[in-house]
Amino acid sequence: MEISGKIAVVTGAARGIGRAIAEALIAGGARVVICDLVLEQVSKTGKEIGATAIRCDVSKPDAIKDMIDTVQANIGAIDIFISNAGFVGGEPHHAASADDAIWQKSWDIHVMAHVWAARNLLPDMIKRKSGYLINVASAAGLLSQIGDAAYSASKAAAISFAESLAISHGEDGVKVSVVCPQYVASDMLGYSDPSAAPVHDGLITPAQVAETVIDGIVQETFLILPHEIVRSYVAHKASDHDRWIKGMRKLRRKALDQTGSTHPEKIHLLI
Ligand SMILES: NC(=O)c1ccc[n+]([C@@H]2O[C@H](COP(=O)([O-])OP(=O)(O)OC[C@H]3O[C@@H](n4cnc5c(N)ncnc54)[C@H](O)[C@@H]3O)[C@@H](O)[C@H]2O)c1
Repeated sequence: MEISGKIAVVTGAARGIGRAIAEALIAGGARVVICDLVLEQVSKTGKEIGATAIRCDVSKPDAIKDMIDTVQANIGAIDIFISNAGFVGGEPHHAASADDAIWQKSWDIHVMAHVWAARNLLPDMIKRKSGYLINVASAAGLLSQIGDAAYSASKAAAISFAESLAISHGEDGVKVSVVCPQYVASDMLGYSDPSAAPVHDGLITPAQVAETVIDGIVQETFLILPHEIVRSYVAHKASDHDRWIKGMRKLRRKALDQTGSTHPEKIHLLI
């Protein structure tokens, strides 16, 4: 899809990957609406990058509906909707130790927010035979995030939902992509300034992710992989699941031995 002249919405865009995608869409000539949890923060970003800012907590179905209704009433039909908001909950001990609130929040923000957005957008997109839904999941959903079962499971579900959207609505003229980055230097990994992040093969900037997202939209690529190497990890996992599990166990052990933790803020430097 051509980006110039389109109306685009990006969720969780006060900072990080969402902000970078919004900036790249604006540079490509789109009119962009960004939303995030705290109005003051999202408004500041909106002023800095030239986007309209709205407060929206995507873990609430009514908030997503209101936000979409507001954009459609005041700006116009949404052409591109990027569900990007996300968080890491972590797990205190074993793989089932994160409390139910973390599992529920992971499900709501990483999966249901995508469902609620699609539910409100699809009828109009199908009628217009046009529209693009882009869901930011993670390489953790294709592979696994060691030390964060709720994150991994919810991101895997997000990928599955994007596949269902693409299969069911390709013939309706609705485009779908799912974005699966590996490690990105954002606040999520403790980098409030991506330029201060260590130079590391596996760690890219939000701006680099945004570049691949824009390419993916223009090419209408379903699976957008900002780290190309993830494709070979996925092929390896599919070719021998047992060997892949053993490799992941080794990586977990290495993280515990070398850093004492499996937190993404530590483990990403071992990839
Ligand atoms: N940083 C990484 O290494 C990495 C890797 C793979 C995937 N991702 C995914 O990329 C997306 C963006 O992450 P990021 O790295 O920019 O993280 P980030 O923490 O810098 O930004 C996430 C943004 O989402 C917002 N948000 C969280 N919950 C929200 C809610 N309920 N409603 C509205 N906004 C909400 C936050 O306020 C924040 O502005 C997430 O879905 C994340 O899971 C990140």
